[in-house]
Amino acid sequence: MTQNKVKDMILEVSNIEKSFGNHNVLRNINLKVNKGEFIAIVGKSGCGKSTLLRLLAGLDTARDGTIFVNGKRLEGRNQIAKIMFQDGRLLPWKKVYQNVGLGLKADWQERAETVLEQVGLRDRINDWPSVLSGGQRQRVALARALVHEPEILLLDEPLGALDALTRIEMHRLIEDLWMEKKFTAVLVTHDVEEAVALANRVILIEDGEIVMTHPIKLPYPRQRDHPLFSPTVSHILKRILGKDKLSNRKIE
Ligand SMILES: Nc1ncnc2c1ncn2[C@@H]1O[C@H](COP(=O)(O)OP(=O)(O)OP(=O)(O)O)[C@@H](O)[C@H]1O
Ligand SMILES: [Mg+2]
Repeated sequence: MTQNKVKDMILEVSNIEKSFGNHNVLRNINLKVNKGEFIAIVGKSGCGKSTLLRLLAGLDTARDGTIFVNGKRLEGRNQIAKIMFQDGRLLPWKKVYQNVGLGLKADWQERAETVLEQVGLRDRINDWPSVLSGGQRQRVALARALVHEPEILLLDEPLGALDALTRIEMHRLIEDLWMEKKFTAVLVTHDVEEAVALANRVILIEDGEIVMTHPIKLPYPRQRDHPLFSPTVSHILKRILGKDKLSNRKIE
């Protein structure tokens, strides 16, 4: 590997093993992520996606193996990463701008307002979370992560509870912000279309192991009507579900 490539690497996961009791959840996970990449992790429910993301955030520790962040062994919380979950985890007793400003010191109000404007919520800053729609709440959660200007944004099914149209809007927003701010993103998702709409590399986990790495060569900003979009989605889906199960299904 060239010196340049080593310098560009922001995350390196080396031989990670993770178990809960006797259950080996992750086995021999190896992954290198360069600065500014957008990685999507897909796989069936229970395959270990969230477990891997929690390890990258430093919220949990592995039984074996090492995670390097900018070349340094990760110990404790990953200080350059922010994580966003499926449920926005907003504090109901704090207004939108206060939720976003949590943990900030200087100029917190101004910074919260600026980032809320970037996610399209300029006119909702004084609202309580309870009066927002699901999509708006996830925008607040995104703003709350981005206000810290993380080098790495970890996303665990952040759009899982949203309707299809709101999801597409959120894909565009996340893509725009990623292109503008140039953070590194690792997105866990069940939705292969979402993975292809956003990621430059899709990783498939099966039974706790990475079994496929698929580069997505489509240009940004991604267009769903690009001739290679749907074939790419169905190629990855076939790999996840097993070709036979899809092609041999009888249509009644
Ligand atoms: N704290 C825990 N204690 C015991 N087992 C756990 C714990 N966290 C996760 N597991 C187990 O590890 C396995 C992987 O869980 P994980 O949450 O990583 O899956 P996932 O791929 O994110 O699934 P989903 O797509 O449903 O969110 C599951 O079998 C789960 O039951
Ligand atoms: Mg999960």
